[in-house]
Amino acid sequence: MSRTAEPGADKRIDGRAFAAGLRERVARAVSTVSETHGFTPGLAVVLVGEDPASQVYVRNKGKQTVETGMRSVEHRLDASTDQDTLLKLIADLNADDAVDGILVQLPLPEQIDAQAVLDAIEPAKDVDGFHVINAGRLATGGAALVPCTPLGCLLLLQDRLGDLSGKHAVVVGRSNIVGKPMAQLLLGANATVTIAHSRTADLPAMCRQADILVAAVGRPEMVRGDWIKTGATVIDVGINRVPAPEKGDGKTRLVGDVAFDEALAVAGAITPVPGGVGPMTIACLLRNTVEAACRRRGVTLPEM
Ligand code: GUN
Repeated sequence: MSRTAEPGADKRIDGRAFAAGLRERVARAVSTVSETHGFTPGLAVVLVGEDPASQVYVRNKGKQTVETGMRSVEHRLDASTDQDTLLKLIADLNADDAVDGILVQLPLPEQIDAQAVLDAIEPAKDVDGFHVINAGRLATGGAALVPCTPLGCLLLLQDRLGDLSGKHAVVVGRSNIVGKPMAQLLLGANATVTIAHSRTADLPAMCRQADILVAAVGRPEMVRGDWIKTGATVIDVGINRVPAPEKGDGKTRLVGDVAFDEALAVAGAITPVPGGVGPMTIACLLRNTVEAACRRRGVTLPEM
């Protein structure tokens, strides 16, 4: 490390740079399938309502889909949309051969049963990997489409650590979107996996046993420096907006589920927030879209 580098710079896992590299590989794969097989993968994104964070995600998804050479279709529905209308749209997208991937942005308004909608998506087009069939395939070692955020975490871990065999991974959080699939992926990579959560007895002591600590709880800076074993690799999935009075009245800043400065002093490597796991989610969505498009058409998936 050069003398002028920021302290701990070599410990920071740069998700922005890794995601940019992955997007380039996806773009090359898109060119290859287009030249070799004559099709362009297409992603349909469905947004119900006007949640501001969801609008930002959906805009970025559309932009990056087009930037990697794929087709992007957006369906924006009113917040008062009923379940049957949404299910009819999903049925149309399932039947549309030009659509390879379908993503319904979460959260959905409360009048809609989210799991029923997710399970209405054709599993072969389920680029979020949230359908019960894909969850089941992931759990049983089948050819699943894998949820994007945990997949992004796994790629960052393998890039940093190489083989994960024999490492003890503690995943804090048990959601269907991150915690559970993260644990399955780590198990598939031969780690020894513990799933911890808000009811785990002595959570700090459990975390201190981790060679790999994945925090996905949605609580700002809950994981403290003294919860981390010296040299551990820390993956912070949290994106929490908190007041930042030091920046001025009413200002906010983004923090993870890990107290970053404390953790940086102890960990061997850590993802920052922002710029760690966040950028990986959309990059993995693009990767899954190419994968879904190739599988549906029975063509070999190019290396990504
Ligand atoms: N809302 C927040 N993250 C996600 C995601 O990964 N997929 C979908 N569909 N909605 C989300």
